[in-house]
Amino acid sequence: MNFPQRRMRRLRRTGALRRLVTEHRLHPADFIAPLFVREGIDEPQPIVSMPGQFQHTRSSLRAEVAELHALGIGAVVLFGVPERKDHIGSEAWNPDGIVQVALADLRSDLGDEIVLIADLCMDEYTDHGHCGLLDGRGDVENDATLEVYARIALAQAAAGADIVAPSGMMDGQVGAIRAALDGSGFEQTAILAYAAKYATALYGPFRDAVDVTIAGGGDRRTYQQDVAGSREALEEIRLDVAEGADMVMVKPALAFLDVIAAARRAVDVPLAAYHVSGEYAMVCAAAERGWLDLDAVAYEHVLAIRRAGADVILTYFCKRLAEAMQ
Ligand code: PBG
Repeated sequence: MNFPQRRMRRLRRTGALRRLVTEHRLHPADFIAPLFVREGIDEPQPIVSMPGQFQHTRSSLRAEVAELHALGIGAVVLFGVPERKDHIGSEAWNPDGIVQVALADLRSDLGDEIVLIADLCMDEYTDHGHCGLLDGRGDVENDATLEVYARIALAQAAAGADIVAPSGMMDGQVGAIRAALDGSGFEQTAILAYAAKYATALYGPFRDAVDVTIAGGGDRRTYQQDVAGSREALEEIRLDVAEGADMVMVKPALAFLDVIAAARRAVDVPLAAYHVSGEYAMVCAAAERGWLDLDAVAYEHVLAIRRAGADVILTYFCKRLAEAMQ
């Protein structure tokens, strides 16, 4: 029997045909822009290991978010760099702390036109660089830290965050934050849980961005996940959803596409993935040497993250990508 040959190339013949049948198409509204705002500076400071990214002043942040909004970017997530760090990270919940005032600025500039997300953690605010309170032996205390997270959540919600995004990987953090928000009239403030967050070397450039050094050359392996595992990620995600997470995140993204795909199958809440600083820096460095086409590779990377199953993508490339999509 002679069957006609299956011709896969028929639908690849023209750009118009390829566009018609493409499986995935990205839109600026799918992106969340991670942004840094630093207290006590007059000029934006370039972040050396993240070309094109800045520690913003309050006013340069406002200008940047206005541009991102004009490009159609869905949301921004703010990280604060305070002037003063201390042992308990108290600037994180100061009503006049840098992220709180920045949230209020952006809310007054843009109303409800763009989603405002506050990263909820302590490491940018503590002098030891850990994501929680330390006990006498220097270990990160879980339950005492939850009380601090609850306070930070209330400060961020009061300042106008639509979503708070706990990234410290303490057990029970989503439940503690949900209870605190509900107990203070912030039932409408949503939680994006950094549910499956790995202890990876890919956060290196970010720590430059927020001026964080972990005391004593330490690491976060007692609270963030072991990079060798994936089942644990699903357990973390299920727990966070059960505790009340409205959205969950896998982080990093590109090195954990298997986890994104598994998370997509496991839960039905919106799934975010964070294409992190190291994943960004690698592409920038290769492009600087002329070894890669930056825009093409950046697009392929975010497409891979979408193909794996992420609905929304946090990436430092989002402005460039959105510009190209106009
Ligand atoms: C912790 C936090 C980190 C990142 C986001 N939130 C760093 C860490 O866990 O050490 C990393 C983001 C990136 O690398 O782009 N508050």
